[in-house]
Amino acid sequence: MTLNIGYIVGSTSANSENRRLARALTRLAPHGVSLREILISELGFYNRDLDGDYPAPARAFKAELAAVDAVILVTPEYNRGLPGYLKNALDWASHPVGENSLSHKPSAVIGASVFPVGTALAQAQARTTLAFLGSPCLTVPEAHIQVTPGYFDAEDRVSDPRAAERLGAWLAAFIRHVQRERAA
Ligand code: FNR
Repeated sequence: MTLNIGYIVGSTSANSENRRLARALTRLAPHGVSLREILISELGFYNRDLDGDYPAPARAFKAELAAVDAVILVTPEYNRGLPGYLKNALDWASHPVGENSLSHKPSAVIGASVFPVGTALAQAQARTTLAFLGSPCLTVPEAHIQVTPGYFDAEDRVSDPRAAERLGAWLAAFIRHVQRERAA
């Protein structure tokens, strides 16, 4: 079975640690599983006045969500919450009414911060929204990645073998979750 997983990075930073984390996950994907980024940088602010005629970037975003089997949100935490940039993308995904792109779409949330246990609250907020949208989201294991200098190598692999193993185990748990949801 092949699985196409899309990931969304919740950071606008050109040097995003969360994008490096997503790339590290991509490198850990087993045979038959592909990960690719779904960009949200072209989305403006969600506005319900546009529900009848979504702009092209929002239509493209929803088409990309439709084309993948599952979604991973890879997000920083801002001021103990989900970055507005990512919440805005979830709002675009949720509408127009009756065209919720995340309904029944298996998902997971992971995040990297410079602080220990960083992203826990951002992840919890993302899971609340995903649950409301009917997206079966991986609950455990959780992964709160504390990025220290050298955590990623120059090719965005996780440098420490034990940390890489833990990240690989998290991805494997998500793949099993997606397979269970597809079988259900
Ligand atoms: C942060 N950061 C942060 N980290 C955290 O764990 N909890 C928090 O509440 C916050 N708050 C916060 C607010 C703002 C405005 C910024 C810019 C940063 C740190 C942040 O999560 C993190 O270290 C980096 O942003 C890593 O993510 P990217 O942007 O490099 O992917």
